[in-house]
Amino acid sequence: EKGGYDHYMLKEIHEQPTALRQALSGRIDLDRGTADLDVEFPTGFLDSLEEIQLVACGTSYYAAQYAAELLEEFADVRASAELASEYTFDGGRDPWRTLCVAVTQSGETADTLSALRRAAGAGVRTLAVTNTLGSTVTREADDSLFIRAGPEIGVAATKTFASQVTTLALLSVFVGRERGTLSAADARDVLENLRGLPGAVQQVLDDEGAVLEAAEEYVDADAYFFVGREYGYPVSLEGALKLKEISYDHAEGFAAGELKHGPLALVTNKTPVLAILTDGTSAAETLNNVAEAQTREAPAIGIIDGSVDAKGLDVSLKIPNIGVLTPLVANVYLQLFAYHIANLQGQSIDKPRNLAKSVTVE
Ligand code: M6R
Repeated sequence: EKGGYDHYMLKEIHEQPTALRQALSGRIDLDRGTADLDVEFPTGFLDSLEEIQLVACGTSYYAAQYAAELLEEFADVRASAELASEYTFDGGRDPWRTLCVAVTQSGETADTLSALRRAAGAGVRTLAVTNTLGSTVTREADDSLFIRAGPEIGVAATKTFASQVTTLALLSVFVGRERGTLSAADARDVLENLRGLPGAVQQVLDDEGAVLEAAEEYVDADAYFFVGREYGYPVSLEGALKLKEISYDHAEGFAAGELKHGPLALVTNKTPVLAILTDGTSAAETLNNVAEAQTREAPAIGIIDGSVDAKGLDVSLKIPNIGVLTPLVANVYLQLFAYHIANLQGQSIDKPRNLAKSVTVE
C-alpha cells in the first residue's frame, strides 16, 4: 500500500505531480484567461471586498502566507495569513467587505474551526479550502473549494501543502480577474506557469539523488537554518517545520533579511543554511545574507533557478523557473531533504513522536 516506498511520506512526496494535475484539472480557462472554480460569491461581493483573512495552523498556515502574497499581487486586496489559534475579528473592520478563508487539509482542526466560527459570528463570509469532502469545515463554511490531493497518511503534510498553494493560486487568479485587477494576459501567464507545475515538480523528484547526497553530508549538523524572501519566506518556514517534525533536530526558518538581526549569532560550521534563491524571492539580496553566514563558516545549500548568479554555494540544487510558483517547486527539495535526514537517522517518519495527523483540541 506504500506503493513500493519505505514510507507514506516519501510516497506522498512523489505523488505531487499527480496531486497537482488533479488540483488543476478543469480549472484552467486559457480562453477567458481565468480560473474556473466551483465557488460562488454574492453579486458585487468581490468588487467591494477590502480584505481577505486566511486562517490556518502549521503547514496550512504557511500555505496561507504564500497565498496572501499571491492575493495581494493579483487581486489588489489586503490579504493576511492569521494563525487560527490567535485569530480575532477586529471590530474596526467591515465584516461585509471581508472574506475569511479557512485553510485546512483535514477540515477538522479545532483551532481553525474556532477561528472560522469567530469570523462567521461577526458576519464575515467564509470559504473553506480543504482536502476532505464532508469534513466539519465544509459543513460550516459558506462555500468550499477542494484541493483534490487524495488521502494523505503521513503526519508530515507534503502533497497537501503543494495542492493548497496551487488551489489558492487559482483562487487568486479568479479573484483578480473578477475584480479587474489582473489582465487576461497576465492571468494567462500565471495559468501557463500553473500548467507547468507538475512537470517542474517531477524534475525535482528525478533529482532525488542530489538531495540524498546533501543529506548524507550534513546529517550530523547541530541545527539547520532555512532562509528566503517573499514567496521564499513561507517556504523556508515550511522547510524547517518539516525537518523538525520528523528528524527532531533543531531547524528554524527565517526571513533572509532577519538573519543579521540576531539569528546570525547561532551560525557556525555545524549549522547549514538552506536558501531559496529563485524567481519571486529577491534572490540577489538573499545571496548576500547567505554570504554573511558563509563568512561564519556555515555550509550553504541553495535552490536556484538560473535567474540569479549564485556562485560559491556548497550545494546547488537546480529547478526550472515558473514565475511565482517557482518557490513552491523549491519546497519539494526541502521535503526530500527533511525526509532523507530523518531516514538516515532511522526515525519513525510517518508517525513522529508527540504528533497526530489531525489536531482536534484547541
Ligand atoms: O488539517 P490541517 O491542515 O488543518 O492541519 C494543520 C496542522 O496541524 C498541520 O499542517 C501540521 O502542522 C502538520 N503536521 C504539518 O506537517
